[in-house]
Amino acid sequence: MAGNWKMYKTAAETSAFFEKFRTLVERSEHCEILICPPFPNLPAAVAGARGTRIGVGAQNLFWAREGAYTGEVSGPMIRSLGCSHVIVGHSERRQYFGETNETVLKRTLAALEAGLTPIVCVGETLEQRDGGRTEAVLLDQCRNGTAGLAADQFAGIVVAYEPVWAIGTGKTATPQMAADAHRVIRDYFRGAQGKEISEKLRILYGGSVKPDNVKGLMAQPGIDGALVGGASLDPISFASIVNF
Ligand code: PGA
Repeated sequence: MAGNWKMYKTAAETSAFFEKFRTLVERSEHCEILICPPFPNLPAAVAGARGTRIGVGAQNLFWAREGAYTGEVSGPMIRSLGCSHVIVGHSERRQYFGETNETVLKRTLAALEAGLTPIVCVGETLEQRDGGRTEAVLLDQCRNGTAGLAADQFAGIVVAYEPVWAIGTGKTATPQMAADAHRVIRDYFRGAQGKEISEKLRILYGGSVKPDNVKGLMAQPGIDGALVGGASLDPISFASIVNF
């Protein structure tokens, strides 16, 4: 269960969140719990999560290890703070910051190289869904966003299915729609990487996950977890999602 905080909260607000949240999930051993705050708040989050099972991840990374890349942050920098994961290819990055399948692949490889688990995001827009292109878009994003990954590298990634039309809109995919998309994704990876790897692959659903709809989504066999935006900002709300 992963929280994507996007561009919300200061360091002080991050510490305050963890103070409350850590006690609310201290008995939650049925899943991994992850919070992905903005870069400047990673140290506060790592400190707030210390001594708990809560992991901390970043929301993006650049693919070079270091260099003259003003404004960028590398995998080794994120890893050295004590982070375990990094979100890659979120639809907001594809929409506003020029992210493509090619740059997703570079970031995914850089994350693995740095010892981070990339959470690779895929998902169709409303226009693509209405045009009957959901499956083709998902296959294209999966194929080209992970092209050439070796089996051991592939075993280190998580995929998040996030229909763009469901992000921050209050419109959730029905459990059936989400399950259908997860099946398309898992089937693709079964063909590309084999049965064992594809069965172990974790595929999260994201897009307006809330305490009152998480149960129905998680009841679908192919949905392994959730990537939660808005509802992860409040400790009580995110804890009730974790403890669904
Ligand atoms: P949301 O965001 O839960 O606010 O819809 C999900 C995401 O963008 O990861």
